[in-house]
Order: sequence, then structure tokens, then C-alpha cells
Amino acid sequence: MRRKKLHTVAFVLTGVVCLVFILNKNDFESDVTLITEDDIYEKLHQQNSIFETLQPSSSYCRQNVSAYNVTGFSTLPKHIQDFLLYRHCRSFPMLLDVPDKCGGPQNSADVFLLLVIKSSPENYERREVLRKTWAKERQHRGVWIRRLFISGTSATGFEKHRLNKLLKMENIENNDILQWDFHDSFFNLTLKQILFLEWMERWCPHARFLLNGDDDIFANTFNMVEYLQGQKGNDGSKHLFTGHLIQNVGPIRHPSSKYYIPVQVQESKRYPPYCGGGGFLLSSFTAKTIYNMSHYIDLLPIDDVYMGMCLEKAGLQPTSHLGVRTAGLHIPAQNVDKFHPCFYREIILVHRFLPHMIYVMWDEIQNPHLKCGKQILQKSRKK
Ligand SMILES: *[C@@H]1O[C@H](CO)[C@@H](O)[C@H](O)[C@H]1NC(C)=O
Ligand SMILES: *[C@@H]1O[C@H](CO)[C@@H](O)[C@H](O)[C@H]1NC(C)=O
Ligand SMILES: *[C@@H]1O[C@H](CO)[C@@H](O)[C@H](O)[C@H]1NC(C)=O
Ligand SMILES: *[C@@H]1O[C@H](CO)[C@@H](O)[C@H](O)[C@H]1NC(C)=O
Repeated sequence: MRRKKLHTVAFVLTGVVCLVFILNKNDFESDVTLITEDDIYEKLHQQNSIFETLQPSSSYCRQNVSAYNVTGFSTLPKHIQDFLLYRHCRSFPMLLDVPDKCGGPQNSADVFLLLVIKSSPENYERREVLRKTWAKERQHRGVWIRRLFISGTSATGFEKHRLNKLLKMENIENNDILQWDFHDSFFNLTLKQILFLEWMERWCPHARFLLNGDDDIFANTFNMVEYLQGQKGNDGSKHLFTGHLIQNVGPIRHPSSKYYIPVQVQESKRYPPYCGGGGFLLSSFTAKTIYNMSHYIDLLPIDDVYMGMCLEKAGLQPTSHLGVRTAGLHIPAQNVDKFHPCFYREIILVHRFLPHMIYVMWDEIQNPHLKCGKQILQKSRKK
């Protein structure tokens, strides 16, 4: 009799477990647990104070519900709807900070070139390679090069936590990450730029020059320092904004383009002159001016164009630097090694490099026996 009862209990229990399993199938598939994410947040929150500030980012800034009334709102792609709803949000809490990066605001003039690299949390390999190659903190020709990665948050739930932990670990080891609690997406890059400029005003106002760029570029930072030291009469206190100059273009109106900007976001058919966002150089004077102007211009999701808008409003012009190749390096001959170091020794910056290529190229351009000239082209042709 007792046995039968036990059997029944076991049977019912199994049924309940199965039912719970079926009802939570999706949770099982992704997280292999019955506890909800909220429970976990709560637990982590109790255990560890670093999670105390981790609320969903949306709670920092309310949607602009008037955006729903914009003509054709419901027909716009999701990321553009998102942009319109949160366009006015410019303030997000910092998750990681390096306030002493420039030795404090007073000493920040000792930083000659601050490398400010846009990097999403998951791009760990790229950051690791940059740390030991072109973005290595060091002195060159008697002046200091410093490095910062700027980041938001990626993913949601557990994955977001994991990636935040990754950045935290990296920052403990390297002291080189600024992270804010906003969604790190292509359309939030302008927000990232503005948050950085705000940080700079506070913690590093006198760093003389900045390289602002992506984490998939190859930058010859030796050449950069030499070029900037050659700016006679400009120690960072005058205007400089140079890179791959783009002019006479306007918003792309094809919805399938990554750069699609509908009239609901910008009516004007014209973009001001600007420098391609893969990488450009600017003085601290110009950084300050852009930040000031940004208070008076609505955010545009294309970050490099937005910089151009701020410059235009300030009456300043971006200039072209032929050594900045954000559209890649065009090597005409077919049989030539596209990655011959001689092509990269003279430039300042090239876009789209894989981490392993950056690692090799950084070594090769420093080879004292490297001889460049006409014969190199011929030699590589013979190969
Ligand atoms: C949206 O439009 C409707 C109808 O014109 C109007 O009643 C409502 O107040 C508008 N809402 C906002 C938030 O502007
Ligand atoms: C909210 O959105 C409407 C419609 O796009 C816009 O006119 C208004 O300026 C926005 N408000 C804020 C505070 O950004
Ligand atoms: C930008 O980040 C905010 C905060 O995380 C988010 O609410 C918004 O949807 C993001 N915008 C885009 C276009 O990704
Ligand atoms: C921008 O600069 C002007 C002139 O120096 C100043 O009056 C103004 O307060 C600044 N605006 C902001 C938001 O810092």
C-alpha cells in the first residue's frame, strides 16, 4: 500500500516536472535553468555591488512618445524607430571609467596623442592585438601616446552580463576602457562620440591631439606623431580635423542600406563635408568645439557626418589627409603583394584589417632592413 502511494507520488512529480519543462522549453534551450533572469539579477545584486547600477538601460531615459506620431513611423525599420524614440537621450551612467588616464585634468597636456578607439564589447581579439601593436601606450619622439577604448553594452540578460564582465576584467588589467550603459549599436555611435567628448572635457581637457577611429584599422601611430609634431604653430590649441575627406554627398534613401536615413530623421538632402569615420585626427581645440556645438544640434545616427555638422556650425572645415585611407589602399598592379609593408610604412591609417594582419604588419613596418623603392614593386611582381 505504502509502495503504491510512493509510486503515485513519484508519477505525479515526474508529470509536474515534465510539464514545467515543456512550459519553460525556451528557457531550457537557452539557459538550462528554471530560475528566471530576474531571480539571477536579484542574487547577483545581493552578492556583488558591481551589479547595483545594472538596471535595464531604457529606465534611464523615457521614450519620446511624440515620435509615434511622425508620418509613416510604423513603416520605418525597427532601428530607425528606435533611434527616433531615443534620439534625445544623451546621458547614460558609466559602467567603467579610467579617470586618471591623462594623469588628471591638470596634467593632461602631457598626453600628446590620445587614441580613442570605438570598440563593441565582443571585439576582444581586436583590442588585444591593438594593445600590443599600434595602440601600445608609449613615448615616441619625446611625447606620450595613450589609449582608450570606448564602448556601450551588447546583448541582453546573461550574455550582457558576461560581456560586461569581460570588459571589467580587461579594464582591471589594462586600464583602457570607458563603458556606458547604452546599447552599442551602429546607430548609437554618435551617442558614443558625444559621451566621450563629454568625458574628455572633464578628465582630459588638454590632451593635445586625438585619433578617433574604429578597432579594425591599421594605424601607423609613429607617422601620426611625426605629422602632428610638424603642425607648426598648433600645439592642439588651434583647429585641426583631418582624414579621408568626403564632400558633396547626402543621405542615402534606400531602406536596405546600412546608412539609410529617411526624411523623418533628416529632411535636408545635403551632408556637410566630413571625414570618414574609420579614423580621423583632430586637435583638442576642435574636440572641445565639436562638443560645444553638439548641444545645439539634434543627433544624427551617422557619427562621422554628425562631426561634420558640428564643424560646419562652428564655421570650421575638415581637411583631407592623403595618408588616411578609410576606403582601403588601392594598389593598381595585380601581381603585387597587397600587404607589402612598403605600402603601409608611409601611410597614416588604413581601414579594414584583420587582427592577425595588424600583428604582422606592425612588426614589418618597423623592420630596420626594410628597403622600399621602385625595386620593391618589381621584386614583388616576380614572386
Ligand atoms: C498624436 O496624435 C494624436 C492625433 O493627432 C494626438 O491626439 C496625440 O496627442 C498625439 N500624441 C503626441 C504624444 O503628440
Ligand atoms: C520628440 O519627437 C518629436 C517628433 O519627432 C520631435 O518633434 C520632438 O522634438 C521630440 N522631442 C524631444 C524632446 O526630442
Ligand atoms: C541606443 O541606446 C539606447 C539605450 O540603450 C537604446 O534605448 C536605443 O534603442 C539605442 N538606439 C539604437 C538606434 O540602437
Ligand atoms: C559654447 O561656447 C560658448 C562660447 O564660448 C559658450 O557661451 C556656451 O556656453 C558654450 N555652450 C556649452 C553648452 O558649453
